[in-house]
Amino acid sequence: MTPRRVLVAGGNGQVGRELARLADPARWELSRPDRSQLDLADEGAVRAALAQGRWDAVINCAAWTDVDGAESHADDARRVNAAAAGWLAQAARAEGLPMVHFSTDYVFSGTSEAPYAETAPTDPINVYGQTKLEGEELVMAAHPRAIILRIARVLSPHRTNFLKTMLALGAQRDQLSVVSDQTGCPTGASDAAGAALAVLEQMLDDPGRVGGIYHCTNAGQASWFELAATIFALAEQKGYKAPQLTPVMASEFKTIAARPRNVIMACEKLYRDFAIRLRPWPDMVAEVIDSLALPSPTDRNWK
Ligand SMILES: NC(=O)c1ccc[n+]([C@@H]2O[C@H](COP(=O)([O-])OP(=O)(O)OC[C@H]3O[C@@H](n4cnc5c(N)ncnc54)[C@H](OP(=O)(O)O)[C@@H]3O)[C@@H](O)[C@H]2O)c1
Repeated sequence: MTPRRVLVAGGNGQVGRELARLADPARWELSRPDRSQLDLADEGAVRAALAQGRWDAVINCAAWTDVDGAESHADDARRVNAAAAGWLAQAARAEGLPMVHFSTDYVFSGTSEAPYAETAPTDPINVYGQTKLEGEELVMAAHPRAIILRIARVLSPHRTNFLKTMLALGAQRDQLSVVSDQTGCPTGASDAAGAALAVLEQMLDDPGRVGGIYHCTNAGQASWFELAATIFALAEQKGYKAPQLTPVMASEFKTIAARPRNVIMACEKLYRDFAIRLRPWPDMVAEVIDSLALPSPTDRNWK
């Protein structure tokens, strides 16, 4: 079988790099232009990139992911998180290409104790969440064969994330205070990338299949404190320094953007429709720590 040709927008981020690592070259040919090669804030460039008849599918990993920075750069965040996602979806539909787009648990306020299903009402409490929600709405309105995977608290060996920040701080300090009253569902960039490829394969194999919104996190939940404790317990076995951890309330730890308090994602729909279930999050954390020493795939094949 000829490999499926996939345009990966924002493909040099955490999830994009894991897509590059996981995609079997016998089955997938990924093109991952970076920002200098395809600026998603440029509508004409986005439409031109897709209108070349070169692709079988599109994955959009691009986003403004600086949650605090989005508060003072709402227009910039909105352009990539909402407008560009909509342009990609419109162009993908015009070309007849299935699309996978990533969104976030931050479309919810986190005030519910119960797990959130895909049908739960959205109510973002920061600019990042609001612009990602607008992106979801534009993608769903533009493309009946778009799949939105809502992921959360993404961890990987690449770029900046909570795991890498904890290890860096742990190396410098003997004591760390970590927020213990905000709970969520960690997601490995590798697990999100694997799910995207598995979903896309099923969409490509069945042209009659329609899209929709899916929650896609690793199994289980954790507060930031619990996540940090597991990170250091596993990292210590690998020779990293582990500081003493102190739980603190979010109210004692001011951030520019408000964060949801408690977002537990119910992921049964992904299993029901696509037979995809992600492993428990501690297994993913262990794998990320193991892979920190490995080189990060930054090679690109954008032509
Ligand atoms: N990170 C998380 O904790 C988290 C949580 C929930 C959901 N998500 C969602 O998951 C998806 C993937 O996240 P991630 O962690 O992989 O993100 P990431 O590491 O921040 O990567 C985002 C990528 O988008 C690119 N990008 C941003 N603006 C662009 C533009 N105008 N033109 C071209 N490229 C642009 C970035 O380019 P540069 O390399 O030039 O910066 C980067 O490569 C996103 O939709 C995000 O909203 C992430």
